[in-house]
Amino acid sequence: MGKTLVIVGGQWGDEGKGKIVDLLTENAQMVCRYNGGNNAGHTVVIGSSMFKFHLIPSGILHKGTMNVLGNGVVIDPQVLLQEIDQLSSNGISISEKNLVLSGSAHVIQQSHIDEDTKKGKAIGTTGRGIGPCYEDKISRSGIRLHDFVKGSSLEAKRLKPFVKETYIIVNDAHSKKQNILLEGAQGTLLDIDHGTYPYVTSSNPIAGGACTGLGIAPQSIDGVLGVFKAYCTRVGSGPFPTELGTEADTMKEKKETLLQKTDFKSAEDGSEYSQGMILRKQGAEYGTTTGRPRRTGWFDIVSARYAFVINGMTGLIITKLDVLSKLKKIKVCIGYDYEGKTISTFPLDGEVLKKCRPIYKEFAGWKDSLETIKSYDDLPKEAKSYLLFIEKELKIPLAILSVGPERTQTLILKKNLLF
Ligand code: IMP
Repeated sequence: MGKTLVIVGGQWGDEGKGKIVDLLTENAQMVCRYNGGNNAGHTVVIGSSMFKFHLIPSGILHKGTMNVLGNGVVIDPQVLLQEIDQLSSNGISISEKNLVLSGSAHVIQQSHIDEDTKKGKAIGTTGRGIGPCYEDKISRSGIRLHDFVKGSSLEAKRLKPFVKETYIIVNDAHSKKQNILLEGAQGTLLDIDHGTYPYVTSSNPIAGGACTGLGIAPQSIDGVLGVFKAYCTRVGSGPFPTELGTEADTMKEKKETLLQKTDFKSAEDGSEYSQGMILRKQGAEYGTTTGRPRRTGWFDIVSARYAFVINGMTGLIITKLDVLSKLKKIKVCIGYDYEGKTISTFPLDGEVLKKCRPIYKEFAGWKDSLETIKSYDDLPKEAKSYLLFIEKELKIPLAILSVGPERTQTLILKKNLLF
């Protein structure tokens, strides 16, 4: 009996979905992207080869898996062809047998990139032309792949064989009871409708976006896996209630800071900024697509509960727990103080959210590294109580826990919620 599962980011993107998608793909016959474009990015390391993806699902590394870019995705032909070439030169053959593109997906043009680099600065976009391309889509003046591949450019000719009616391919796979993974790029709080508008991306990363972005019915979806980092990060501007330090200070940080030895003492006695810097250093929190330092902060139950509700999450995935090792104290935001009143629901009015101050519950940290942990029972008791608290507050069972970047550093805790 096959399953169709959505995997969705519960925060502001960069939750470590790439590694989880790669892992789940082992048991999936199809992986589909339903939103966004090359504003996303992840790296997969296999043996001595490192693959950087922005558009193609990492399912492409698994023989026999069909990869789909749905109608909800926006495609930069040059970027896509570079990814195809990079994979081909690493011995991975790409054809319409393992990669198909929806003809209804819109094409990013140079004018979109130019406009984004000019106008996108105010909210800190990735400058890849994503917003302007979706603008043209909504105003019905965009170019879709269907039409793009009728042109005579080399790019058009090369992409033509991949363009298909992907809704048929996806729904056929569902009828044949195959395992299908629907992969949302970015995260819930960057959703154009449900995120921290206007500091959002221009598509729908939430689980509902899988239906519109692929042409699959809601009742075909069997489960929604919500991926959260054990803390929070955000790239670009916008409200971030649990941020440690300020956006301005973070943006000044040079990537070389990553190479310096971590001064844990400064986290214990230092400013919030130095605590945030430790999370950034330990978690290598620099953007895959833009190389920008990511803003960092403590786990936020209020926004996580919101993400749980609007996505209908059935399983919880927590990544990068190892990053918190060696911290003396770890905090979790359990409510917001807004002008002297405590609120426990996530406000969508940006003016309100900006003024929300986190109310924290403090947890004791653990000294041991989690690198070699092989089972949940081996976790330090402090780590267990941190996880249990989050699981109980969110009321979703913890299905996967990731304690390091390697495939082997992953604990599968609820196989029944996966494939
Ligand atoms: P855009 O998607 O390039 O238009 O950027 C809009 C906002 O979304 C900016 O704050 C970006 O930093 C953020 N963003 C876009 N893609 C990602 C991602 O994959 N991870 C994290 N943030 C992202």
